Amino acid sequence: MTDKNVCFAGEIALPAIGQGTWYMGENDRQRQKEVDALRAGIEAGLTLIDTAEMYADGGAEEVVGEALRGGLRDKVYLVSKVYPWNAGGKKAIAACEASLRRLNTDYLDLYLLHWRGNYSLAETVEVMETLIQQGKIRRWGVSNLDYGDMQELWRVQGGQACVTDQVLYHLGSRGIEYDLLPWCQQQGMPVMAYCPLAQAGRLRDGLLNHSAVADIARAHNATAAQILLAWVISHQGVMAIPKAASVAHVEENAAALKIVLSAEDLARLDDAFPAPGRKTPLDMV
Ligand SMILES: NC(=O)c1ccc[n+]([C@@H]2O[C@H](COP(=O)([O-])OP(=O)(O)OC[C@H]3O[C@@H](n4cnc5c(N)ncnc54)[C@H](OP(=O)(O)O)[C@@H]3O)[C@@H](O)[C@H]2O)c1
Repeated sequence: MTDKNVCFAGEIALPAIGQGTWYMGENDRQRQKEVDALRAGIEAGLTLIDTAEMYADGGAEEVVGEALRGGLRDKVYLVSKVYPWNAGGKKAIAACEASLRRLNTDYLDLYLLHWRGNYSLAETVEVMETLIQQGKIRRWGVSNLDYGDMQELWRVQGGQACVTDQVLYHLGSRGIEYDLLPWCQQQGMPVMAYCPLAQAGRLRDGLLNHSAVADIARAHNATAAQILLAWVISHQGVMAIPKAASVAHVEENAAALKIVLSAEDLARLDDAFPAPGRKTPLDMV
């Protein structure tokens, strides 16, 4: 049994499962539960936390800020995202400062362009570099950029400083394996897989109860969700960021770091959910 790590920018090794926060901060009555879940996750080793100015209009960042009170900030690798319409010039500086205030910190480990918008990639790269010089962020990356977008980014001056592409990836949606994932692997650039649980199966009916997943789960004395996570992180350089709002789910997700799927398990999952044989547009939610 081994724990798996993913290396950011060739130097920062993190457990290959982190914590998502979409839908956190939307309901005051859930707040304490969300804070407790994030803290339990950090305790269990899920030290990357992914959030965004978009989630609950900044409310998710506030929940994360609360979870990090009392000396936890330096134990986590904190990731937030900027809206495309804020991803250039003074707007980006202001958006980043607002995220820092809500998160109750003075720096982000990683700041991502949430998806492509009207600012050119060159303008976004430029302001990301300014934010690094100002000490507000340590590194920058992108999200929801497909293979062709990444080629374009690589041609922009300074574009190759991008440390990750955060994209939708789960057993039922494998489009990135055709071109984007192999290319990122070639660059040595980790991919951050969002919706690794297909939103508890909501994005792909029947995924969690599929007989292949259920049989493999039984054989590993694991849950279907753990098998989905173990499958995502079985790919080189891929990290999963499941969102869990209960301590029980978080602990289950952390334990998935130790599950190693056999070649037979992987072949059975390939049969049930084949890898793509042709280019498909990047899946998104
Ligand atoms: N860059 C982007 O455009 C983008 C888009 C979507 C998501 N994201 C990021 O990726 C994160 C993950 O994606 P997501 O939240 O959409 O979907 P997800 O992580 O695939 O699924 C979350 C759902 O799974 C449930 N869950 C968590 N652990 C479980 C377990 N062990 N067993 C059973 N159910 C479990 C959660 O329930 P509970 O909450 O009740 O625990 C929640 O309903 C987001 O939170 C966000 O940070 C980024």
